[in-house]
Amino acid sequence: MMRFIFPMVLLVGAITRPVWAQEPPRGDAERGRLVFGACRTCHYTEPFMGHNNGPNLHRIFGKVAGKQSGFDYYSETFRQAQFVWTPKLMYVWLENPMAMFPGSSMMSLGVPDPQRRADLIEFLKRASVREAQ
Ligand code: HEC
Repeated sequence: MMRFIFPMVLLVGAITRPVWAQEPPRGDAERGRLVFGACRTCHYTEPFMGHNNGPNLHRIFGKVAGKQSGFDYYSETFRQAQFVWTPKLMYVWLENPMAMFPGSSMMSLGVPDPQRRADLIEFLKRASVREAQ
C-alpha cells in the first residue's frame, strides 16, 4: 500500500506547489522574441523607441517598478511600488498580471504557459544588454 501512497503524495505536492516555488524552465530568447509580439502593441525594448502605451522595457531588470521618467500612465499601484524587477519576479507576475496587481493599468492576460513565459523572460534579458534587436 505504501508503495502507492508515497508517489501519490509526491504527485499531489508537485501539482499544488505554488508557481513561485517552482523552478522556471530554461528559456530561449529567439522563441521569446515571438512571444513578445503580444506585448509589443504596448511596449518597445529598443531604447530609442521610447515609451508606447506601456513604458519602455529596455534594461527593465534592476529597475524599481513604476518609476520611469516620461511615462505618465502608471497606475497608483505601480507609482507606489517599492520593488525591483528581477527575472524571477517577472516570471511569476506574467503568469496572471491582474491577479498580482489588480489595480494595475496593464491590460494583458500575461503568458500563462511556463515555457513561453520563460522564453519571454530570456528575450527581455537579452534586450537588456543589446542596444537593438
Ligand atoms: C494593452 C497594453 C499592454 C500590453 C499588451 C502589455 N503591457 Fe505591460 N504595461 C502596460 C501598462 C499601461 C503598464 C503600466 C502598468 C501600471 O502602471 O499599472 C505596463 C507595465 C509593464 C511593466 C512594468 C514596467 C515598469 O516600468 O515598472 C512590465 C515589465 C511590462 N508591462 C511587461 C509586459 C509584458 C512582458 C507584456 C507581454 C506579455 C506586456 N507588458 C503587455 C501596458 C501593456
